[in-house]
Amino acid sequence: MRQDWGDEKFVHYWKGYVGTARASPSDLKFIKKKILEKGKDVKILILGATVEYRELCGKLGIDVTLIDYSRYNYEYLKREIKHKPKERFVEGDWLTTLLNEKFDIILADNVINVLMKGDLEKLCLNVSKMLKKNGIFMPRTYVRNKNERYTGEKVIKEHRRQGKRDFYTWTIRNLFISAYNPKEDYIIIKDVWNILIDLYNKKLINKKELDVYRKLSMKDREFKFFIPERKYLDKTFLKFFNIKEIFYGKEEYLKGNLPLHVLNHKNR
Ligand SMILES: C[S@@+](CC[C@H](N)C(=O)[O-])C[C@H]1O[C@@H](n2cnc3c(N)ncnc32)[C@H](O)[C@@H]1O
Repeated sequence: MRQDWGDEKFVHYWKGYVGTARASPSDLKFIKKKILEKGKDVKILILGATVEYRELCGKLGIDVTLIDYSRYNYEYLKREIKHKPKERFVEGDWLTTLLNEKFDIILADNVINVLMKGDLEKLCLNVSKMLKKNGIFMPRTYVRNKNERYTGEKVIKEHRRQGKRDFYTWTIRNLFISAYNPKEDYIIIKDVWNILIDLYNKKLINKKELDVYRKLSMKDREFKFFIPERKYLDKTFLKFFNIKEIFYGKEEYLKGNLPLHVLNHKNR
């Protein structure tokens, strides 16, 4: 199901999504190392139009191919990139678009999270067909633990206990979990906003804190976000790939909740 990334121009608000929503400096350092290990002729495919990955390839002088079903988003996000790489853009769907070539590295930032659970295997199958024999697939994904539960109140209480830290960076992931519908296995973004309004009405957060989230345009947004259970994600990956390595970004706010998998072909 195509979500509203393009149609409702969610991309216009993307610059407000920072912290856990973006590959962190340590994630990027790790990815850079993997790219350099493959040598200067490395062939890279980015699923999506991720600014940080494009910037990294631009700095390294490496050409990239990108698949995204929204050319608009791809063009729009260019404005955030200082060092633009030479890019080949393919307007297509990660689940069905099969390029007639194979890649050394396939990067996917928060890609699984914007798909639905039932699409995960389709993604893995399609990606595996575009991966070279020695290639690596590196998805970075928000995960949750089995039976992990939060309420808005608990998120705020924990945050206050930790002392003064950037409100958004330190609360967004757990607010996602507090709005999570485990039966459907997704959150609807507008439910996160409703939790924030409730917290504001109960005077548990102030106007300034609410306004940080207001900028993200979550109100009335029907966008669905899938946060797989950690073990489920690994189990599904293992049907298609070997898990060579799992890197956890070193920034404290990531708290081990955004693994960056390094996957290779099963027969390796
Ligand atoms: C990768 S996601 C999450 C944000 C991501 N980290 C980034 O910076 O772009 C956002 C992008 O995915 C694209 N997208 C979502 N589902 C897609 C699909 N099934 N096939 C191709 N592109 C898709 C949207 O058009 C949007 O540009």
